[in-house]
Amino acid sequence: MRSFAKKILIKIKIIIFFLKNPKYFTGLPPLIIDFIFRKGKRERERMKSLKICKKKSIKTNKALQLILQKEITIKFRKKYKKEILESEKIIKKTGIKLGGSGELDLLYWIVKIKKIRNVLETGVASGWSSLAILLAQKDIKDSLLISIDMPYTWIKDSYKYVGLAVPLWLRKKWILIREMDKKGLPIAFNKKVSFGLVHYDSDKSYYGKNWALHLIYSKLKKNSIMIIDDVGDNLTFHEFVKKKKLNHLIVSYKNKFVGVIMI
Ligand SMILES: C[S@@+](CC[C@H](N)C(=O)[O-])C[C@H]1O[C@@H](n2cnc3c(N)ncnc32)[C@H](O)[C@@H]1O
Repeated sequence: MRSFAKKILIKIKIIIFFLKNPKYFTGLPPLIIDFIFRKGKRERERMKSLKICKKKSIKTNKALQLILQKEITIKFRKKYKKEILESEKIIKKTGIKLGGSGELDLLYWIVKIKKIRNVLETGVASGWSSLAILLAQKDIKDSLLISIDMPYTWIKDSYKYVGLAVPLWLRKKWILIREMDKKGLPIAFNKKVSFGLVHYDSDKSYYGKNWALHLIYSKLKKNSIMIIDDVGDNLTFHEFVKKKKLNHLIVSYKNKFVGVIMI
């Protein structure tokens, strides 16, 4: 009963957020459609997706070896222990928790070893994935990370805490577009930057993700990489790679699954 009340409270907070922030209003209809028309399907599709993920997934080390043709023995969190501790301190002081980070080793080592100059990501929250990408790019000349983020709808003033994990000295090579994907992705692609890697970690709904994956794929050149978080949530990723016949991997990480597409 308590968790039911909590769910209702979150939904009320989400509606209030959209009413108070009309710039993000177009994000509300897909959520309502997803909630009403996919209610029954959602759990069934999640179970199906998890089954595929469990069967096909490999560990990060193995994935990195396949992608980079190189064995990676150093962990990102160990290599940058000091920087991570600093960021954790800053975030802790705010007393606000915006949700955890994704698979940082995958992001860091792919960008670092492949020397990817331009990266695009959707979904920043505290900024852990942004931190990993920017640290990997720090010695790459003229590198750039463009991130898109709409703040958490159910946390009051959460925009104030977005990207706090990224220290000031790394922000010179970072553009943060504070929009939802629907607006932010076209803005990013209009900058005429050729992205070597796109990390998708924002809208997890079936429709939102499906729309974004198709758009991102249409804008990428051969040899670029897409990393998609939480592919176990629904069937979007599996349907997408099947339809486009894409070379892909599923990586398991702390009971979650990350999809990697090699274009
Ligand atoms: C899982 S968190 C990102 C975590 C981050 N990538 C990391 O690994 O540290 C998801 C973020 O995406 C944002 N978001 C959700 N839906 C979005 C949308 N439609 N457009 C843009 N951002 C969105 C959320 O508010 C949140 O800040």
